Amino acid sequence: MAQRICILGLGYIGLPLAAVLARHDLQIIGVDINQQAVQTINQGRIHIYEPGLEEMVRTAVSSGRLRAYEKPQTADTYLICVPTPFHAGTVIPQANIDYVLAAARSIAPLVKAGDVIILESTSPVGTTERVAEVLAEAGAEVAALHIAYCPERVLPGRIIEELTGNNRIVGGLNKAAARAAADFYRIFVTGEVVETDARTAEMCKLAENSFRDLNIAYANELSMICDRQGIDVWNLIALANKHPRVNILQPGPGVGGHCIAVDPWFIVASAPDLSPLIRTGREVNNRKAHWVVEKIVARAEALARELGRPPRLSCYGLAFKPDIDDLRESPALEIAGDLARRGYEVLAVEPNITSHGDFRLLGVDEALQQGDLHLILVKHRPFAEAAVKKRLREAGAMDFCGLFASPGGGLAPPP
Ligand SMILES: NC(=O)c1ccc[n+]([C@@H]2O[C@H](COP(=O)([O-])OP(=O)(O)OC[C@H]3O[C@@H](n4cnc5c(N)ncnc54)[C@H](O)[C@@H]3O)[C@@H](O)[C@H]2O)c1
Repeated sequence: MAQRICILGLGYIGLPLAAVLARHDLQIIGVDINQQAVQTINQGRIHIYEPGLEEMVRTAVSSGRLRAYEKPQTADTYLICVPTPFHAGTVIPQANIDYVLAAARSIAPLVKAGDVIILESTSPVGTTERVAEVLAEAGAEVAALHIAYCPERVLPGRIIEELTGNNRIVGGLNKAAARAAADFYRIFVTGEVVETDARTAEMCKLAENSFRDLNIAYANELSMICDRQGIDVWNLIALANKHPRVNILQPGPGVGGHCIAVDPWFIVASAPDLSPLIRTGREVNNRKAHWVVEKIVARAEALARELGRPPRLSCYGLAFKPDIDDLRESPALEIAGDLARRGYEVLAVEPNITSHGDFRLLGVDEALQQGDLHLILVKHRPFAEAAVKKRLREAGAMDFCGLFASPGGGLAPPP
């Protein structure tokens, strides 16, 4: 009989994972507490946007290899892919692992000796040990289980390829657990699968995302300094990167998403006295979105004096990065919201979603016609088409994500 794999959480990580695993000789049980997601998946459709995913889910469901449920079912391997947000409102945001612990509790009555339990959710150090404690408290015989942590490194928009191609770090609560969990990944991963302990694997994911956050913070800080000094930061970075050992990342309106904008806090919260650099990186990236708002407001106030009324602001992009539909922790969304709260009429263009509770969504043409001031917040592919870019440039758009930058640096091409 095919091995049974139970995946808890069918979001951006769990659902693609389910679809990829269903291509192998495995029986996939998808579980989500969101009833609508479960129904949608069982109809062979998807509730999130990810290129190539819908067709894979349709095939997996129609072949009978994937079925979604609202409650966990007995399996041989359990994968926990639920959210790990932070508790906002404190000076140093604290990780919220309640979803992880609830998922662990929900499988406690089902697990049996030899089962493999893998936490994939990005988690503070020690969470895999907490999963084991919760299972033990609920009566599971933890010593007979293989409990491990394996973080995800996928890039939204390329999740399907990266799920199989990326290298994986698998950290077990003991060596046997690391081996059993790594053997599971070896079924479908073509990248390297490296075994380690759970705490190292947990920290590895947090260290990777903090590294990215810090590097982007450097670019964002440079962008604000260059703006004051009248230097085109995009050109500057392209020129600096011609140095053989320099690779400065690209600035933007801030840093978003539920990974890079969140995970560094898990480190800071665990060692506040030892993490001033990581914390400052977070603060610089958060500050960048406020700086963008200040720049826009200054321009809008000048324009209001010319027009004799407040300008209508067209925002191009709401997602947290290009070519995705994910708005979580998005600086573009935060900027648009801030401008609306200040009383400006905000027109939003977001090609990857069909509606939004707070904003009237328009196409590029309408936004160009109806807006007085144009704000490029996300470098979505449709905005980078030559004709659209030309119109945005002619409309005097404020570019916060390098849409107009010339990739090789040097003098910008004439408008
Ligand atoms: N999305 C990414 O690109 C990405 C990349 C790397 C790591 N991660 C991490 O992976 C984890 C999951 O992220 P995501 O983007 O898939 O989140 P998501 O919000 O898209 O999906 C999580 C799903 O879990 C469900 N859920 C919550 N509690 C549950 C429970 N007890 N049982 C079953 N289902 C439950 C939710 O209803 C939701 O559908 C997070 O820790 C995230 O930080 C995400």
